[in-house]
Amino acid sequence: MYSFLNQIIGFFSRDMAIDLGTANTLIYVKKCGIVLNEPSTVVLDKGGEKVLAVGREAKEMFGKTPKDIRAIRPMKDGVIADFTVTNKMIKHFINKVHDRKTFIRPKMVIGVPTGITQVEKRAVIDSAIESGAREVHLIEEPMAAAIGAGLPIMKPMGNMVVDIGGGTTEVAIISHSSTAYGESLRVAGDEMDEAIVRYIRKNYNLEVGSFQAEQVKIAIGSAYPLQQKLEMEIKGRDLVKGTPASRLVDDTMIREALKEPIQAIIDVTRRALEKVPPEMASDIYDNGVVLAGGGALIKGLDSLLHEETGLKFIIADDPLKVVVRGAGTVLDNFAEYKKVCIN
Ligand SMILES: Nc1ncnc2c1ncn2[C@@H]1O[C@H](COP(=O)(O)OP(=O)(O)OP(=O)(O)O)[C@@H](O)[C@H]1O
Ligand SMILES: [Mg+2]
Repeated sequence: MYSFLNQIIGFFSRDMAIDLGTANTLIYVKKCGIVLNEPSTVVLDKGGEKVLAVGREAKEMFGKTPKDIRAIRPMKDGVIADFTVTNKMIKHFINKVHDRKTFIRPKMVIGVPTGITQVEKRAVIDSAIESGAREVHLIEEPMAAAIGAGLPIMKPMGNMVVDIGGGTTEVAIISHSSTAYGESLRVAGDEMDEAIVRYIRKNYNLEVGSFQAEQVKIAIGSAYPLQQKLEMEIKGRDLVKGTPASRLVDDTMIREALKEPIQAIIDVTRRALEKVPPEMASDIYDNGVVLAGGGALIKGLDSLLHEETGLKFIIADDPLKVVVRGAGTVLDNFAEYKKVCIN
């Protein structure tokens, strides 16, 4: 009887799956698809109380805000760095997509980083409840990524994913609906941006913002020599003269700049491969490793990983959306997938 009632409630409510990422937040609504995809950024007034902008609008203001307002990213290294602001951001996004006319409180499946603490879990759940959730289920991001990439995670065989996001690179080996090995490294897209900032400062005495560095990374960043040379102008402030200046950079320079963070990602992948239980090794050898997250799009990263490990690396379709797609699959087929949730 209860479950029948639950089905009826489910039919009328706007259930949602959320990927609460360090760089981007995505929301999938049952029967509607992905309805929100925005940067996890907030702009606050001077007192830090009032929210002035959230998401895309806030990201555009990043690094350009005058002294009396602050633009922040409340998530850092894959975890909640600022509870209050994260709470405000989650509520803002949920309210944006939650159709309050339906009156029925939605069920939510939320992707969280592996190794999230009890306190952090509580914070995510509380924000969701305050935003109107009737029940909240958490799923680890690599598990969601594996499901979103269509891996047969329920089978007793080895499935491996490497999710390179903004804050963290998460590696997981999944079998029989559970994680056989997982590691989370606090080096990913943000660290690549910082590496570019440091490289440009050191070699050209030019101070550039992390937003500029990110644009360069996306446009010409690579892990493996390219077929064709790519160039881009990067603008900032000349550290000697103190005036605005620009500099032409190419893919070779940026590859050099990205060497350290890329090496760290290779190392964490290698460590996982060394820990693969022998009975799963042949599955991974045969089927390869799925790359997810925005960092999977670094040009030539799949080739470099292949060269370093001898394994196949497959970039998931639309890698920035894999986690929310997986969380959406869990929501849509909840009875079957409930067991992969962590709370
Ligand atoms: N084409 C691209 N090439 C390289 N990097 C990219 C590309 N597109 C996006 N990125 C990077 O991917 C990162 C964001 O990826 P994603 O949205 O998967 O992270 P996230 O889920 O928010 O973070 P996390 O999983 O660490 O919490 C950013 O650092 C962004 O610069
Ligand atoms: Mg992510």
